[in-house]
This record gives sequence, structure tokens and C-alpha cells, in this order.
Amino acid sequence: MSALKDVDQLSEAEASAEHARLARELAGHDRAYYQNDAPKISDAAYDALRRKIEAIEARFPQFVDLFSPTQRVGAAPSGKFGEIRHAVPMLSLGNAFNDEDVADFVGRIRRFLGLGEDAVVAITAEPKIDGLSASLRYEKGRLVHGATRGDGQTGEDVTQNLLTLDDIPQTLPAGDWPDVVEVRGEVYMSHADFAALNQRQAEAGKDAYKNPRNAAAGSLRQIDPKMTAQRPLRFFAYAWGDVSAPLSDTQMGAVARLGEMGFPINPLMARCESVEALLAVYRDIEAQRAGLGYDIDGVVYKADRLDWQERLGFVARAPRWAIAHKFPAEQASTVLEAIDIQVGRTGALTPVARLTPVTVGGVVVTNATLHNQDEIERKDIRIGDTVVIQRAGDVIPQVVRVVDADRPDRGAPFEFPTDCPVCGSQALREHDAKTGKLDAIRRCTGGLVCGAQLKERLKHFVSRKAFDIEGLGTKQVEAFQEEGLVREPADIFTLKARNAAGAIVPPLQERDGFGETSIGNLFASIEDRRAIALARFLNALGIRHVGENTAALFARTYGSWPLFRAAAENLADETVRADMLGIDGIGNAAVEALDQYFTEAHNREVLDHLEAELTIEDAEAVANDSPVAGKTVVFTGALERMTRDEAKAKAQSLGAKVAGSVSGKTDYLVAGPGAGSKAKKAAELGVTTLTEDEWFVLIGE
Ligand code: IVH
Repeated sequence: MSALKDVDQLSEAEASAEHARLARELAGHDRAYYQNDAPKISDAAYDALRRKIEAIEARFPQFVDLFSPTQRVGAAPSGKFGEIRHAVPMLSLGNAFNDEDVADFVGRIRRFLGLGEDAVVAITAEPKIDGLSASLRYEKGRLVHGATRGDGQTGEDVTQNLLTLDDIPQTLPAGDWPDVVEVRGEVYMSHADFAALNQRQAEAGKDAYKNPRNAAAGSLRQIDPKMTAQRPLRFFAYAWGDVSAPLSDTQMGAVARLGEMGFPINPLMARCESVEALLAVYRDIEAQRAGLGYDIDGVVYKADRLDWQERLGFVARAPRWAIAHKFPAEQASTVLEAIDIQVGRTGALTPVARLTPVTVGGVVVTNATLHNQDEIERKDIRIGDTVVIQRAGDVIPQVVRVVDADRPDRGAPFEFPTDCPVCGSQALREHDAKTGKLDAIRRCTGGLVCGAQLKERLKHFVSRKAFDIEGLGTKQVEAFQEEGLVREPADIFTLKARNAAGAIVPPLQERDGFGETSIGNLFASIEDRRAIALARFLNALGIRHVGENTAALFARTYGSWPLFRAAAENLADETVRADMLGIDGIGNAAVEALDQYFTEAHNREVLDHLEAELTIEDAEAVANDSPVAGKTVVFTGALERMTRDEAKAKAQSLGAKVAGSVSGKTDYLVAGPGAGSKAKKAAELGVTTLTEDEWFVLIGE
């Protein structure tokens, strides 16, 4: 799969920058879509962005945090309506883009639940309706409120508007329904109604809606319910939130009950018992797509057994038991006008295709990534070629292939530079120490001598998840760096003193775009950041493989900068190294990268200078009221009530750290039958050992 392959080729630093960029871009699109009902890009393009960021997070889990778009669903309520906090969060769905992803999804379910190859895993398939989701809360058969999804936790109170839909009853028909039932589904507009609405809009001299989904969103979020009433909206029920009694023990059964309550349910929903059957339904629905009369953008698969759904639970914003299989996105062809080389924070040289602008999936594309030297050679891409580009499953459009490679006047093959275009240092492709394989990425060897690398590192240092200095953004850092005012991070903290001493000419307050007030503010926010949390500080250093999440892990584990630095500088010591590798979530790559970083004298100097300027605050323990929060747990032996994955996910969701091996830091060893050396070691170290049942008692289940 191309998107995953692209991500495979990113260094951590590039991935981190890309992740931050994608997060910003997605946040903007979320606002445009959810708050303003005015998306700027097509669904396919949006999915491509999401898929790319997910692929990055799959490879670099350290980038996942609360601000990551993958942890958010939609955007916060706009403030136009009252707010409703969802009793059960309204989550989103992960995506599958091809048959293999679907097989992986089913495989993951099997593995997670510890099911054998021959166990039947029933999965439902149904159209993914392209509208906006809504949650309708009924108590004793009466609608008490209806809300949009909002950010997944809190939605907008659009009860009155929802009541104008024929498909949504104010009271449920007589029947044996739970006292509380939240019905969830999609509000949408049919093609015919959409066309008629746009006709009326045109006659009234108003702007046309771009597509039925925007029309549905815009219509549901009218301030005056009378306006909504004039818009022909429809509803399909496909899920539920808070229920005081289970609706059924299967997805199929539960949806059928929603149908009995009087809600429209989709007639194309089917139950399958194999990946092949799911794919057959997918193709069947895809074939019917154009004739359905309403927009769909894929097929949603859900584990049929609700007890399995319960056990599978959620990862971040999406359930493990469901996935959306999206329909493919678009391609277009255009001319490759030039190839530029960009130099990243770790010196990676990345070729970028400059294209004659072309619209793909509703977005104008002018640049595309060419990944690396091998990719250009393999596809034999040359300047002047007409190329196919695509935005499927990839945020940065990709060059897929050349279409006119056989034209007579074709230019020469592209010569990839062997010197850094920024600093002129040699740019080399390293051999992997272990595998001996040639790295796909050519890197500038200039280190901080290279203006591009220094600039990128400084930008990272001041970025939002690192020092986050207000008023010191990319632009300012770039300008300071170019002028030589900031040559290393510590220089940021001496700017004020140097400026006051007259060492900066002309003084900053006399420069365009600054002035007394803004420079005063900038100095104040720099002062503000002299005290910095350990995790932020570690992330700010921009060490390869030590992104935000890894930095947070180190901070939590070592607690203080001196302790961390002592460990990182002594990784030649076997116990120190083993202790670090024993931290769950810390792998060889991070430890190697730290070792390299701290062995380099220049880096230690950079750190000494920073130490002189900063107060690096000790890490605080995370507050969480679960009995195992902050504890380190190791699972071993054959677990009987849960699979290892389930056990791990559960423990982590309760705030525990799960480690792979027993050490002095282990709080609990949960040992099933057949526990061997780990149980022995735990006994030696006096670590509390629990049976699986005792573990469930401890966590209150
Ligand atoms: S199930 C916990 N089923 O897709 C999972 N969602 O990308 C709940 N959607 O927020 C969602 N058709 O707005 C589900 N048949 C369907 C759907 C569907 C459309 C939307 C829904 C959801 C989004 C996720």
C-alpha cells in the first residue's frame, strides 16, 4: 500500500514534522466541516489526510496525544446551540481502503479475542451514509433531546430541528423498549431533494450547497426549526448510545429493534461469515451506489456479537469492532515542471514534484512527493513528463507513474544531488548497522552546520508541543537563525540580555514587525518558558525516535532531568541500558538514538548551555483514581479470561504501564498457568504476583 510505504520511508523527525503539519491541516478542515458546514476539500482528500496521520501514528505511537486529530472526533460545538454531553461518547470509525485492510480487520478481531482459525466471526456490512450523525435520547418512550456529534463528547442541542424530520418520532410506538434508549444514526438528504433545494436556493438568489451532506448539515443546524422543517431531511438508524437494557445480543438484532421502534434502517445491511462474503457485499453496494438516490462513501463492517463488541472495546476515537471500507479516491494527470530538494530536521533530502496545477478529488494540487532517489529511479520520473498523481490514502499527493515515457524529446534522467543543496556538505545514504541495507534516504552530513537542519531543529524546539513560546513562531525563529542571532536553542534565552546590552544591531524593538510592545511580549513569553516540564523539554530536543510520547514515557520513568541525563549518558552500561529497554513502549531505536545523541560532544554542550538557562521541572505522577493507575504491570503465562492484547489494553486504559519484563520497578505480575522465569524473578524481587482472577478483583471487575 502506497501510503504506508511512504510513511515507512520517513525518519522520525520527518514523521514528526509531517504529523504536526497534518494535525494542523486536519484541525482546520474539521472546523470548516463541522462548525461552518463548508468543507474546503473532498471527503477522499480528507480521508487521505487522516489515513496518512494514522499510518504515521501506527509507526510512531509516540506522536499520539490528546491533541492528535485521531483522538478527536469532529470539532467542538460551535456555540450556536445549547450543548448536550453524550452519556456515551459518539465515536468515529477507522478506515479500510482495500481488501487487505479488511482481512487485517477481521484478523485483528480474531487475534484480540484469541479465536482460532475455524471459529466463525460474523460481521455485518451496511452502507456508510454520507450525512451527519445524530443521537436521539428517548426516556420512557419520549424524545427528551437530540444532538449532533460535536466533538464526540459534547454535541449541539438540535432537538427541535430533529423533530421536524418525518423519520424521527417524538414518541416511540407501544412496545417493550428500554426506559432509556439513545438511538443513533445519520441525518442525510436524498439526491432528488438536494437538487430541488439548490433550485430553490438559486431562485431565491442564494448560494447553492456543494453536496447533499453539506446541505443536510446546514439544514439541521438552522437556528430556526421552521427553516429546517422546509428542508427535506431523512434519517437512518444504525447504532445506539446509552441504553438501560440491552436491545439484543447481536448488531443485526439490535438494528432490527430500532426498525421496530419506527426508525428507517438500511435495507442493504447484511450479515457475513467470511472476508470474501464481506467483500462481495462491498462490491454489490458499490455497484448499486449510483442508483441509491443518496450519497454513501463506503461500507461499514461491525462485529455482530455485542458481547464481542464489548470485549473488543475502543482504541482512541474508534471501536476495534467496526471499520469503514471507503470507496477509492481519484487520480488525475498533469505535467511535472520541476523537482525541488528539501532538507529536513535530520538532514533528509526529500524530492518534491512541482506540478502544473490540477484538480484531484476537488482539490487543486501543485506539489507532490517523490519520496526519495530510488522512487524517482524506479518510476523513471523526469522533468517535463506527464504524470498521474493521486490523493488516495495519502495526504501529500503522490506521483503514481509517468504516462508519456516513450515520447521522443524526453529529458535526461533526474540526477539526485549528492551534496546538500543548502549547506553544500556531502549528502550520504547510510548503511543500516545491523542489516547492512542501504538507507532509502540521503542525508546531509552537515548537522547543525547546515542552516536547513538548524532551522528545522529550532522550529521544532519552539513548536507547540515543545517550548511553545508565544510570539516565537516559525517565521521569527527562521529570521533569527538566518541572521545568526540564534545558533542553538539556548540562544533564545539570552536574546533579551544581548538586546539590552546593545549586542544586537539594530536592536530588536527598532525592527519592522516588532516594536517595543511586541518585543516586550516576546521576551515575557520567553521568560515564562524558562521553567519547562521535563517531557516537553525532552521532546523539544528533537532526538530521533524520541517524539512526544516517548519523551513523556521517559519523563514519567526517570522523573527528573539529572536522572534521565545520567542514564542517557551511560547507555554503555548494561544495566542502565537494560533498565531503559525494560520500559514498555521504549524500543531499541530510541535507545540507540539517545546513545548516539549523548555521545556527541557538541550535543552535550548544547544541553549544558540549556541547563544554564532553564529550570527543568520534575515530572508529576498522572492523577487517575483507578487502583492500578501509575503502576507497572507485567502479564505472563497463559491467560484464560482474556487474551494478552485485551489484558494489556485494559490495564493501559486504567492508567497502568504494561512492561514486558519483571524488574525492580514492577508493581504487579499477573501470572497465568505456565508462568516460568518471570514468576521466579518476581518472587526473588518481592514483586506482588496475582492470579488472573485476583487481577480482576483488583481492578474491580
Ligand atoms: S457506526 C462507534 N454505521 O460514519 C461507531 N457510522 O466515520 C459508530 N456513518 O460518525 C458509527 N454510516 O457519522 C456507523 N452505517 C453506519 C454509518 C456510520 C455513516 C458515519 C457516522 C460516523 C462516521 C464514522
